Amino acid sequence: MLYSEKVLDHFSNPRNVGEIEDADGVGEIGNAKCGDIMKMYLKIDNDIITDAKFKTFGCGAAVATSSMATELIKGKSIDDALKLTNKAVVEALDGLPAVKVHCSVLAEQAVRSALSDYYTRQGIDPVPIVGEIKEPEE
Ligand code: FES
Repeated sequence: MLYSEKVLDHFSNPRNVGEIEDADGVGEIGNAKCGDIMKMYLKIDNDIITDAKFKTFGCGAAVATSSMATELIKGKSIDDALKLTNKAVVEALDGLPAVKVHCSVLAEQAVRSALSDYYTRQGIDPVPIVGEIKEPEE
């Protein structure tokens, strides 16, 4: 089987799909090559991510990784969310085929993009905290 059961589960039954209307940070990231787009909405209270939702117009692995990423950051501090790597998302899903690993980068960067927006809204330069948001190049 090409995909783990967890990937199939998060693809067919994605968690936290949707929008947060009064989100504190909204991020969007796309992959120019495949054309997939991921949008991430965060609710943040006292540096804790109290809610996370996403909308992904993309492949199954992009849906599964965004679903898992929202699960991994919910209830966590901003610091912890910033440490979330695409590798951690892939591990939590019991792996992805090599050709699909780049899809998980979209999930990692969508979280960072939303956190970047959170800081920008408060008049804080996000770059020293969040770093540059990079569109995946693969
Ligand atoms: Fe585009 Fe997966 S193929 S994100």
